[in-house]
Amino acid sequence: MGSDLSNEIMRRRTFAIISHPDAGKTTLTEKFLLYGGQINLAGSVKGKATARHAVSDWMDIEKERGISVTSSVLQFEYDGKCINILDTPGHQDFSEDTYRTLMAADSAVMVIDGAKGVEPQTRKLFKVCGRRGIPVFTFINKMDREALDSFDLIDEIEKELGIATCPVNWPIGSGKDFKGVYDRESGNIVGFSGTEKGTKGGEEIRIPLSDEEASLKAIGEEAREKLVNEIELLDGASEPFDQEMVNKGKLSPVFFGSALTNFGVEIFLQNFLKMTMSPLPRVSDAGVIDPVERGFSAFVFKIQANMNKAHRDRIAFMRICSGKFEAGMDVYHVQGEKEVRLIQPQQMMADDRHVVDKAYAGDIIGVFDPGIYSIGDSICAPGDRFKFSGIPTFAPEHFSRVRQVDTMKRKQFVKGIMQIAEEGAIQIFQEENYGMEEIIVGVVGVLQFEVLQYRLKNEYNVEIILERLPYEHIRWIRNRDTDPATITGTSDMKRVRDLKGNPLLLFVNSWSIGMTLERNEGLELDEFSEN
Ligand code: G4P
Repeated sequence: MGSDLSNEIMRRRTFAIISHPDAGKTTLTEKFLLYGGQINLAGSVKGKATARHAVSDWMDIEKERGISVTSSVLQFEYDGKCINILDTPGHQDFSEDTYRTLMAADSAVMVIDGAKGVEPQTRKLFKVCGRRGIPVFTFINKMDREALDSFDLIDEIEKELGIATCPVNWPIGSGKDFKGVYDRESGNIVGFSGTEKGTKGGEEIRIPLSDEEASLKAIGEEAREKLVNEIELLDGASEPFDQEMVNKGKLSPVFFGSALTNFGVEIFLQNFLKMTMSPLPRVSDAGVIDPVERGFSAFVFKIQANMNKAHRDRIAFMRICSGKFEAGMDVYHVQGEKEVRLIQPQQMMADDRHVVDKAYAGDIIGVFDPGIYSIGDSICAPGDRFKFSGIPTFAPEHFSRVRQVDTMKRKQFVKGIMQIAEEGAIQIFQEENYGMEEIIVGVVGVLQFEVLQYRLKNEYNVEIILERLPYEHIRWIRNRDTDPATITGTSDMKRVRDLKGNPLLLFVNSWSIGMTLERNEGLELDEFSEN
């Protein structure tokens, strides 16, 4: 195995960035790119606009058509490392794609607004990280605004998310009294002189807290005294740093900062890159696939439909799991059972999308999909035939009954809705004993209902009426031999099947789930489907 190949793979870091909308994910990402020297920020507004523009270009075609389901991937270099950031779409764009993106990452950075603490979307995404056991790093942002008490924030993360934390740095005040952060490892106070909002900032200053005179001068008596007390408390109470625990996703290193004013951003980046891992081995039906030892392999984690409406183009996003990809190489599509060539492989580099001629384990490429790939498909070097374990199906939270306006167009309707479901934008359920006559559609984010309606009309010329249903929870039945008809449920419970024929239960409220479990001894319900 060439050492160049090994070096290229080992220097890669692929992580997803997750947050509740407005916590500062975009701002932090832009600052990473800035430290990586990828964008030249003449001024914050311009720089921000440039970066935003770059990202949105990728989505424009979709946006015009009222569809925005993209999560973008950015690659940049910092300190000899090649970093892939997977953005997870939020706001109304929140969809199953957001969850799937986490399947392609080796770790996650969770951005939390210091004034708000843990918010619903963070909680949901965190749950998926937890299930995969990937390392989660926490960046508590907006410390330049009035924030909640730092100890309370840490406490909330631990309690709400059920993970131990280890603060790597500690904020010195917040809001107008925010003076920077204290780096626990070096014992330095890190601040900026003359920080200019949104730029790389003024001169970074590092003063040892132990240098009483200099630190007093830098942050003042009151702030210093408070800091000394807090650090003492922290040293006594918090978990020690333990890389093993971080790797297992059981301990989250916590960083405080302000993405907007750059405080704590570079400390975060430097420590994060030390603590996170190079591309992880992946489980397949042929055992664990080592990223360096094996030839090229990848799996599809996202399909973006109809970039070009004239042809039913799709782009399949793949995470490379092992080896090296080279343009023009023939590969084997395991689920399709044939050799294929990956066409027009693309990658996003900070501010543009370009065709790649080589990529390594850890990288994400988007390839032209003539309609052959499905989510979870494996691609191997010719000669290999292994399949990576599948991407779970995530529980939708919104449900509608779908009816056609013109029942004569039955065939187009079924074809359209099946294709859209195949791409993973929606999930289809059938009521027991009704077949395709009565279809229930489930989505993770409500925007997907509009996407469905729009696409059926525009691409398949089929009009539908959506009737919202009150269900909010869905559970797959783990006990394979249980006949759903024998389950004693609550009055709000509905029995359905997914496209694979798996039995599921729909509930209006979570209380009913507990009640149903209580009434049926041995019944096991799951929020995810693993096949
Ligand atoms: P998101 O991607 O997580 O949704 O958040 P985004 O970075 O877009 O940030 C949301 C808002 O919070 C933005 O303000 C951004 O400038 C602000 N923000 C981000 N980080 C910090 C921080 O560390 N401190 C403070 N004070 N504000 C921060 P906006 O007014 O909504 O947008 P814009 O007009 O500034 O672009």
